[in-house]
Amino acid sequence: MHIVLDELKEVLPFESMVHPSIGNLRTLHALSLESPDRFWGEIANELYWSEKSGPVLRPTDVPPFGKWFEGWKTNISYNCLDRHLNTWRRNKVAYYWETESGESRTITYQQLSDMVNRIASGLKELGVRKGDRVTIYLPMVPELPASMLAVARLGAIHSVIFAGFTSQSLVDRLVDSQSRVLITADVAYRRGKKIGLKQIVDEALERTPFVRHVVVLNREGSSGTDAGKRNIPFSELMHMGKGRVSPEFVEGTHPSYILYTSGTTGKPKGATHSTGGYMLWTYYTQKVVFTVRDEEVYWCTADIGWVTGHSYIVYGPLLNGVTSILYEGAPDYPQPDRWWEMVERYGVNVFYTSPTSIRMFMKFGEQWPKMHDLSSIRILGTVGEPINPEAWKWYHAHIGAEKAVIVDTWWQTETGGIMISPQPGNHLVPLKPGSATLPIPGVDAEVVDEDGQPAKQGQKGFLVIKRPWPGQFMTLWGDDDRFRTVYFTKYPGMYYAGDYAVKDADGYFWILGRADEVLKVAGHRIGTVEIEDSLISHPAVAESAVIGRNDQVKMQVPVAFVVLRPGNTPSENLRSELLNHVKKTIGPIAVPDQLYFVERLPKTRSGKIMRRVIGAVVEERPIGDVTTLEDTTSVDEARRAYNELKNAMKS
Ligand code: WTA
Repeated sequence: MHIVLDELKEVLPFESMVHPSIGNLRTLHALSLESPDRFWGEIANELYWSEKSGPVLRPTDVPPFGKWFEGWKTNISYNCLDRHLNTWRRNKVAYYWETESGESRTITYQQLSDMVNRIASGLKELGVRKGDRVTIYLPMVPELPASMLAVARLGAIHSVIFAGFTSQSLVDRLVDSQSRVLITADVAYRRGKKIGLKQIVDEALERTPFVRHVVVLNREGSSGTDAGKRNIPFSELMHMGKGRVSPEFVEGTHPSYILYTSGTTGKPKGATHSTGGYMLWTYYTQKVVFTVRDEEVYWCTADIGWVTGHSYIVYGPLLNGVTSILYEGAPDYPQPDRWWEMVERYGVNVFYTSPTSIRMFMKFGEQWPKMHDLSSIRILGTVGEPINPEAWKWYHAHIGAEKAVIVDTWWQTETGGIMISPQPGNHLVPLKPGSATLPIPGVDAEVVDEDGQPAKQGQKGFLVIKRPWPGQFMTLWGDDDRFRTVYFTKYPGMYYAGDYAVKDADGYFWILGRADEVLKVAGHRIGTVEIEDSLISHPAVAESAVIGRNDQVKMQVPVAFVVLRPGNTPSENLRSELLNHVKKTIGPIAVPDQLYFVERLPKTRSGKIMRRVIGAVVEERPIGDVTTLEDTTSVDEARRAYNELKNAMKS
C-alpha cells in the first residue's frame, strides 16, 4: 500500500486531462444508473432466460437494497454451454489445459458439455437437488470447472475451496455450508511435487460425519485412497445415471454459489452469489474489459479456488464463448520463462494476472520474457492488490511491448466481478499507471470521509458503492446479520468495501489497500484473526497478534507475535512447530514470515491489542504514524507500548 502512496506524491496534485472518451463513458454510466431496467434489460437479452417477468431491478428497503431478475428464470450452465452448441462454437476450444510436466488436454465446448452432463447425472443419482450445497476441493484440472457447471446445472449451490487450504479450513467451510457431497482428488501437483489432497480431506472427514459422499478423482490411477465407505471414484460418477440432465431453470435470485472469504473475525464469510445478476455481471464485464475475439486466446492465471477464477476463468469466458488456458502449476517451473513460453506457444492475446506475479517477474529480470515472442498480446490485466506505477510500467514495457492496453481492475469476492477498470470495449479512457481509472456502468462508486461525505479531491477516504449493482452478493451464507453489520452499517444505505481510496481531478480512483484487519498476501486474501486463532489453538500459545508487513514482491506478509503459556520456553524448535501448525490448520499461504516470542502484547488500558503500534515497530516507522483515522489510542500510551515492544524484540 505504501508503494502506491509514495509514488502518488509525484502525480499529486492530479492534473486534469479530461478527454472526449471520458465524456462518452459518463453518458453511458449515467444511463445505466438512471434506467437500470432498460440498460441491463437489453444486455440480458443477449443471454437465455426461460422466463422474463417483472422488473430487472426491484429496489428493497433492506441491504443490499435491491433484487435483480427476481421474476426471471435461467440456468447459468445452460448459458455457458448449451447456448453455444447450436452455433459454430460447438467445436471451438473452451480450454487448453496443461500441467507443469506437459500433460495436456484440449476441450471443446461440446466436450465440456458432455462432461458436465455426465457429472450432473452422477450427482443427481447421489441425490443432489436444487438448493443443495456441494463442496469442491480440486486443483486446477478440467474436472474443476466441469464440476462447478454440473452443480449449477442441477440448480444446486457450489462451494469451491482453494486446494491450498488445509484441513481446519476445510472443516469450517464444510460445517458452515452443510455440504453432503464433496468432490476432490487424490493428489495435486506443484513444482514437481505431489500434494496429498485426499489425506487432508480424510482428516477433515473425521470431523464432518454429515458428508455422505466423497467423489475422488484418482490421478495416480489407483483406488488405494478409497478406503472409506463414503468414497466414489470420479470415473464411476461419470457413468452413473443417464449421462444427460436437463438444466434446472431457477429464479434470478437463486444462489449459484458460496465462496468463503476472509474478514476481520476468525470465521470466514460465505459470500453468496445470485444466478441472474451474477451471470449478467460476469458476462458483461468479461466482454467490455477483456474484449476477447473469437479467434483469440485468453489466459487468466488465477486459481479457480479464488473469486478471480470463478468469474474470469469459468463463468465470464464460457458465457462469452471464449477460448481459455487452464494451467496447473507454478509460474516459474521449471524456470522463470514458463508463462512467457506458454504465451508464445498458444499465441495468447489477452492476459490477466496479479501485481505480485508481475513484481516477481521484475525480480527475475526482463531477460526471461525477452526469450519469447509476446507480440500476440493486446490486453494485459491486473487484479487483487494495488499495482505500483513501477510494476505497471514494467508490465507495459516488457510484456506489452509498450503497446498493450493495461486494465487495472478493482473488485472483490463480494462484488462478483470487475467494478472499477478501464474498458477497451466501451470507451477507453486515458490510462494512468497505478489507477484503476473509472467505475464501469452500473457502479455508483465514491470515496467518502469518516462521516460518509464525499472526500475532497486528492484526499484519502473509504471506498463505497452507493447503489445496488447486478453482480452484488446477496448475503453471507446463514448470517444475514453479519452481512448487514459488516457491509452496510458504517455508512447507512451504502456498501462499505473496506478499502482506502483517493479520487483525482478527473474522477479517477486510486485504490490504496485494505482499511481493516484483512491482509493481501501475494494477492490472496487472509484475515489476521484467522492466523491468530490458529496460533492460539496450539497448546503452547497463550496469546497472539498478527499484522501485515509490507513486502516488495507479495505486497504484504504476515508477522506474528506470540505470548507463550507458563511452562513453555521460546526456542527455534517451538517456532518451527508453530509455523507448521499454521500451515497444517489453514494452509501455506497463511504461514507467518516471521514469528516473535514476547512477554506481553501492547494493549490499551481497556485491553485492546494495539495493532498500529505493532505495525510501526515491525516497519520501523516512527510512532507518530500510529495516530491514524481510526486509532483511538492516546499517543503517550502508544509510545510506551512501542518502546516496550521494540526492546522486547531486541532481547
Ligand atoms: C484488493 C479479488 C487495488 C482490494 C478480486 C480488495 C485491489 C481486495 C484491486 C479484494 C486493484 C483487488 N487495485 N486493490 N485493482 N483488486 N484489490 O476478495 O483490497 O480476494 O478489497 O477479490 O483486493 O480481494 P478478493
